[in-house]
Amino acid sequence: MNEYTDITEYYDLLMTNGYYDYESIAKSFHKVLGSQNKILEVGAGTGLLTEQFLKIDPNYEIMMIDHTESMLKIAKERLGNRVKIRQANLVSMELGEVFDAVISNGVWSMIDMGNNEYHLGTHIPQDEENSQALKNVSKHLHKGGLFLLNIQAPHKEKEFNLPGGIVYFQEALKQEEELEQYCIQKRYAFKKGNNIVAEQTCQYKFFTESATEKLMDESGFKFKAVDPSKEFHTYYKYKD
Ligand SMILES: C[S@@+](CC[C@H](N)C(=O)[O-])C[C@H]1O[C@@H](n2cnc3c(N)ncnc32)[C@H](O)[C@@H]1O
Repeated sequence: MNEYTDITEYYDLLMTNGYYDYESIAKSFHKVLGSQNKILEVGAGTGLLTEQFLKIDPNYEIMMIDHTESMLKIAKERLGNRVKIRQANLVSMELGEVFDAVISNGVWSMIDMGNNEYHLGTHIPQDEENSQALKNVSKHLHKGGLFLLNIQAPHKEKEFNLPGGIVYFQEALKQEEELEQYCIQKRYAFKKGNNIVAEQTCQYKFFTESATEKLMDESGFKFKAVDPSKEFHTYYKYKD
């Protein structure tokens, strides 16, 4: 299910020490959103990105969803009742509201392969479920509404030091590979001294460019632009 339950405790420590620059991501998203302020953040985790949106403009009307309860508990502590927080699985999400834009920072990402080539990465590795989840995103948007997906580097082995004597390391192992898609098993681990204090292994799927466009089209989305700062891709909902 790719829940983040076992690494929740160390998630913010990792993310706020060099993994993502939430302030910069939120500023770039904000430029494209303009006056559209009713936002759904999917796979929103502990609310680090939403927090930055509210710093830019407290009038953002944000709902955030995630399926990992422990991540949302931290989001609630961080954001209180300034946003709506729902525990939901993207595959079955039914929120009863429609939004101006849906933002994905991590649960789906565009992977920068170099030479202007991007692959779609998803935390939902089963094809039918992933398609259903993308259709659910579309269902929660107005026609013309935006679907913004962050850009990130390919998952690779790396290790670095975090405050408090914690060492983070990740391993990424390529698994099944088909013509237009492949899977990666990613292990996130946190060490203190010689002890592993938290770890989680997830399976992610990736689609080549042509497979991505097909998948997006089937879900009602067309590609609009790569943002100039190369932080995200914009798709828009073109059909009901
Ligand atoms: C890489 S984290 C990103 C969290 C957050 N967006 C951020 O930028 O810090 C991916 C998140 O997606 C959530 N997730 C994965 N699969 C999901 C699903 N099927 N439905 C809802 N959330 C999901 C995980 O629980 C996790 O919190």
